[in-house]
Amino acid sequence: MSMIRIADIAYVRFTAPDLGAMAAFLADFGLTAEIWSDGALYARGAGPAPFVHATALGEPGFAALGLRADSLADLDVLAAAEGVTVEDLRSPGGGRVARLRDPDGRLVEVVAGQTLVDPAPVPGDPPRNTATVRPRRRAPVRLAAGPSRVVRLGHAVLDVSDYRTLGAWYADRFGLIVSDEIEVAPGAPIGAFFRCDRGDDLTDHHTLFLLQSPRGPGFNHAAFEVANVDDLMRGHSHLKTAGRTPAWGVGRHILGSQVFDYWKDPWGHELEHWTDGDLFTAADGSNTADMATLLGVQWGPLHPMMAAAQERRL
Ligand SMILES: [Fe+2]
Repeated sequence: MSMIRIADIAYVRFTAPDLGAMAAFLADFGLTAEIWSDGALYARGAGPAPFVHATALGEPGFAALGLRADSLADLDVLAAAEGVTVEDLRSPGGGRVARLRDPDGRLVEVVAGQTLVDPAPVPGDPPRNTATVRPRRRAPVRLAAGPSRVVRLGHAVLDVSDYRTLGAWYADRFGLIVSDEIEVAPGAPIGAFFRCDRGDDLTDHHTLFLLQSPRGPGFNHAAFEVANVDDLMRGHSHLKTAGRTPAWGVGRHILGSQVFDYWKDPWGHELEHWTDGDLFTAADGSNTADMATLLGVQWGPLHPMMAAAQERRL
């Protein structure tokens, strides 16, 4: 039994030396950012979360992972088990927070009781004509150019020093379920996609992915759900035109199935746009997969690491 079962990821926190430059990047990425009374930059999407990305002034780096607990009572349970106190969360939306350090020393903020904001309108996915089904009749497609409509933060990927230790630490505290465990050889796992335990309710294939990395512990990327495939492609064109730095995409992952598009912020932190990901319940079990499946695509460019390896072989 885990201490609590978290509901979802809440936010990612960074530090950066130029909040104006971060705000401009986030605007191109499709988030609305503004400086709050504490002097930090907080960005939100079209969903109800008061913020999903925060940046305080400082040397560029990843500062904290925010997870959302189901209730204030759960925060108390977690805090008592961990020997920490529950404090006021002094960020947009308020609420309460229990701050933990994972075995790699990373700050994990578990929050509850935030005041949600009114969601902004999100474009729907108009009917699509295919070769066999033609529901869009006598109506053209017209899309305005502009950034993607980011709706919510969907997952974070963390590089960890030791997968077994870190995987157990997160699963034991937050009730995470392995969706796919990544093995370098049979019986030798080095990472896993974890989903939240929401019982019979559907949840994303992964809310957290931990990967043992030769680089040691660090931030890998954070991934934001956009309105739909057209919206993701609109955002791709916008970021490209704005001269932003692409990292990988557009493609469709194998594990999680989502259509993805990775970009770098001005300091090299990777942020992903995604849409059309898998949804599972707690009963849907766990699988294992190899590195080729992890890095492989159903369509789209090779992962940069695989592309470099192929280049070396030529
Ligand atoms: Fe991702």
